[in-house]
Amino acid sequence: MAAERSARRLERMEDLVSLCARRGFVFQSSEIYGGINGFWDYGPLGTELKNNLKSLWWQRVVRERPDVEGIDTAIIAHPRTWEASGHVEHFSDPLVDCRACKKRFRADQVGDAGPCSARQGSSEHDFTEPRNFNLMLRTHIGASEDAAAVAYLRAETCQSIFNDFKRVRETSRQKIPFGIAQLGKAFRNEINPRNFTFRSREFEQAELEFFCHATEREKWFSHWTDERMRFHRELGLAGDRLRTRAHATDELAHYARAAVDVEYLFPFGWQEIEGIHDRGSYDLSRHGEYSGKDLGVTDPETKEHYVPVVIETSVGIDRTCLAVMVDAYAEETLEDGETRIVMRFHPALAPIQVAVLPLSKKLAEPAHRLESELRRRFNVFYDDAGNIGRRYRRQDEAGTPFCVTIDFESAQDEKVTVRERDSMEQERIPIGAVGAVLAERTGALR
Ligand code: GAP
Repeated sequence: MAAERSARRLERMEDLVSLCARRGFVFQSSEIYGGINGFWDYGPLGTELKNNLKSLWWQRVVRERPDVEGIDTAIIAHPRTWEASGHVEHFSDPLVDCRACKKRFRADQVGDAGPCSARQGSSEHDFTEPRNFNLMLRTHIGASEDAAAVAYLRAETCQSIFNDFKRVRETSRQKIPFGIAQLGKAFRNEINPRNFTFRSREFEQAELEFFCHATEREKWFSHWTDERMRFHRELGLAGDRLRTRAHATDELAHYARAAVDVEYLFPFGWQEIEGIHDRGSYDLSRHGEYSGKDLGVTDPETKEHYVPVVIETSVGIDRTCLAVMVDAYAEETLEDGETRIVMRFHPALAPIQVAVLPLSKKLAEPAHRLESELRRRFNVFYDDAGNIGRRYRRQDEAGTPFCVTIDFESAQDEKVTVRERDSMEQERIPIGAVGAVLAERTGALR
């Protein structure tokens, strides 16, 4: 029978940040040098979680769709790309400096700046007038560092999809409507990175640019909004902590016809994890103009030559990972008064799916045999150290949905005990059936 217990959801981000560091999900990058603001490293558990999320996105958006092609482009694109896209001119946030403490803030976030540490008699900052600060990270290509060698780390992954549109369409022999998807790193020199990984300077995006005729834009916009919400619900982000929010007309980018944000309720409020945009034909037209190439298509039946409209879905992988971790976190008080922290990940997202826990080191041989059989299908963790209660707690914190214990009876009855993370219920099943039973229980998302 499941133990009686009360559960508390995550209320303070500090609790998650501390669990993530303690268990090696995510921690400051270059930690030994004191960290580097806005950059994060994923440890073994975080990397598995993130990879599972990325594979699921790729599976749903690329592999299951005959009308979507996946690509993987260079992080540095031709600098003209960012002129055509408007980033060189417009991709900036308003910045203010405090003349006293020398700190910098986004002008629209000075309300969160806190007191000034350097002014006597007043804790108020002494701000400069706002000025625009371009968020693209610059670098130089080749041996020279002059203006001609300036290049940018991509600020979004989609621009190279537009650069490659013609080549991908021709080589894949896709016809409009169809999409091109890409998953990878993006960089923004954010003025105030904050809220753990939520606003970082280096992050991953998974973007789909779906090209259609202008007469079908509403249909595809609504199709992709539904598909993407289905995806987030599949991750378990359902209920009253997930919503869509349509942009008001004055929020829209000048080229956009419609935009919807997918928002999650973090402990620091409702925040965007994905944007779905009708970008019109702005991108292909601009890249056509700047490159001098014709990026239009000809309808094989009507012979109309036109520049397709783009419906974009752009999800932050790190933000979604953060939402998944916030959502999974629970602190439970068990009936014996003990507290456990449990990460209730969906089994297909969990970094470790199965832990093999022999009750004694003397059971190493059958336990390792089962471990290597299970490793062919799952990410497995083997742990024979410490008392079994403590080993279960470690796996609860890692979010491992199933623990398999092998005891001295196992040799006689050829059975093992499978303990389920959330209910903590235990069930004895034949060793030979463990792989199939767990595959059925972990595989619902695949
Ligand atoms: N191509 C469209 C585009 O880049 P965006 O709203 O700027 O649109 C899309 O970014 C998604 O990328 C966001 O919904 C968010 O999940 C993620 N993202 C943007 N800036 C980020 C940052 N500084 N740190 C982490 N994720 C970020």
